[in-house]
Amino acid sequence: MSRTDLAGKKIAITGGARGIGAATARLLADRGAAVAIGDIDAELAAETAAQISAATGARVHGLKVDVTDRVSFEQYLDAAESGLGGLDVLVNNAGIMPTGEFLDESDTVTDRQLDINVRGVITGSKLAGRRFAGRGRGHIVNIASVAGISAAPGVAVYCASKYAVVGLGAALHQELAPKGVTVTTIAPSFVNTELIAGLSPNWFVRQIGFIEPETVAAAIAEAIAGRRGGFRTVPKIGGVFLRALMPLPENLRNSIYGALGLQHVTLNSDESVRAAYRERTEKPTPAAEPEKQTGTRKTGTRS
Ligand SMILES: NC(=O)c1ccc[n+]([C@@H]2O[C@H](COP(=O)([O-])OP(=O)(O)OC[C@H]3O[C@@H](n4cnc5c(N)ncnc54)[C@H](O)[C@@H]3O)[C@@H](O)[C@H]2O)c1
Repeated sequence: MSRTDLAGKKIAITGGARGIGAATARLLADRGAAVAIGDIDAELAAETAAQISAATGARVHGLKVDVTDRVSFEQYLDAAESGLGGLDVLVNNAGIMPTGEFLDESDTVTDRQLDINVRGVITGSKLAGRRFAGRGRGHIVNIASVAGISAAPGVAVYCASKYAVVGLGAALHQELAPKGVTVTTIAPSFVNTELIAGLSPNWFVRQIGFIEPETVAAAIAEAIAGRRGGFRTVPKIGGVFLRALMPLPENLRNSIYGALGLQHVTLNSDESVRAAYRERTEKPTPAAEPEKQTGTRKTGTRS
């Protein structure tokens, strides 16, 4: 792919202030796309957008969005469209991964995961899908996880949320294709971001599924450039391994997970290392406050 293969594409990416979203925004900008980073952390979104814009010369906006708030999401898409002069792609990337035993998880934390990881992706797919279908063209990329095709203790609700994203994408891939809307579901394995702070991917995970955010960004860019719909894991080998185990009886599959030490990775996290991530992500979903939405702000912009 050349540095200009995405030239002219107008792309919105939620949760783009850091991690996989920021790496994706950077790569897309590098390849010539104009990008509207949306994040609940508006300050960091603006900072990240300014940095990417300065490094690449691309048009990059940093906007506020709370994906759990429909009004905020609609305003974000409006601001992205008016700032970029249209929208070709929405990447639903924002997500959180609280860890710990299911029986100890507060309802607040459960709701927060479902609100962001499931409702946010559904809302984004619906709002952008309507805009794209009306024009007969567009692309929705939803970020799921290998936790959406496998399961591990310590992240039960996170797994449930990602299974939902995988199911949603599989249905929309069929339903929206005739309307000219491509739907891609990307399922990364362990990615080196704050989301996995305090987790210790063991030797096996490091062999087949421990990657940098730039690797996920490359898979997203490839799907957008090629208008490739459907489901894919990143890296591919992680998906091949997990899918090879699928036909096995569940108890046998779990024994294999256990023998490979996979169940310990998510169940036994270092809480002292994870404290900052928890503090950032596990606050209750705030009541909708559309008047505080700053989606029309255009920071970090370079034309
Ligand atoms: N890191 C991994 O190992 C991994 C693996 C598989 C899938 N994923 C998925 O990739 C996506 C990105 O994860 P990451 O590792 O980059 O995490 P991250 O924590 O580094 O970044 C997530 C971003 O989403 C933003 N966000 C959170 N709640 C939001 C909300 N309500 N509205 C708007 N933005 C919000 C955060 O502020 C943050 O900037 C998530 O959907 C995650 O589940 C991550």
